[in-house]
Amino acid sequence: MIDLHTHILPGIDDGPQSVEEALDVAASAAANGVSTVVATPHHRNGAFTNPGDAILPLVHSFNQELKAKGVPLTVLAGQENRIHGDLLDELRDGTAITLHHSRYVFIEFPSVEVPAYAKQLFFDIQMEGYVPIIVHPERNKTFVEQPEKLYQFVKNGALTQITARSILNRSSKRVRRFTEQLITHHLTHFMSSDAHNAGSRPFDLKRGYDVVADEIGAHYMETFQLNAARILENKSVLVDRPERIKKKRIMGLF
Ligand SMILES: [Fe+2]
Repeated sequence: MIDLHTHILPGIDDGPQSVEEALDVAASAAANGVSTVVATPHHRNGAFTNPGDAILPLVHSFNQELKAKGVPLTVLAGQENRIHGDLLDELRDGTAITLHHSRYVFIEFPSVEVPAYAKQLFFDIQMEGYVPIIVHPERNKTFVEQPEKLYQFVKNGALTQITARSILNRSSKRVRRFTEQLITHHLTHFMSSDAHNAGSRPFDLKRGYDVVADEIGAHYMETFQLNAARILENKSVLVDRPERIKKKRIMGLF
């Protein structure tokens, strides 16, 4: 399995703090059936700043550690960019980096709002040849309450990635339900663990895939897996025509 969104590099964000801890996290990834991860450290999220030139050498040295310790896991370079107005400039100068040198770039929204400039920013970076992937939109309050806003981004060519834990029963019912709607309305294209450690935020991608296959539809799970592989080859991904999530109207006598 390929896991596109992970915090596995030592001492760089809120993932493992030491090389030893990172090796344990890597071993747990391998034990959970993951063969390749993209390391996506937080960048400009208010707590961590990790430019490309900090990530790339660390990916290289950590792969050497993994090889030396016999951990069967390959780590590729990526980044989780919190949205900001300088993103296109940062992509141009290498401060912001894409997933494994592809055209696909992870973009994280704040937990509550969708900034007004986001639409123009997405247009600009798409015009430059990048494909934005909104990470875990199910954790953004505005998207949950106004799914039309997410629909518009997807309709305009953005992709999205949901987190495995959102479909497992470890999130709120509302998030679980919204995540399921994102899948069935073709508003999401990848699932990842967003693992930070081997404990509270683990490599649970396999369990997430199992729930999608068993409870929603095996073809969705297969598409997610195929799309993850295609990112690493910088190929186009499978995208079904997005559908609007219609809110149920509560009828009553007034
Ligand atoms: Fe993350």
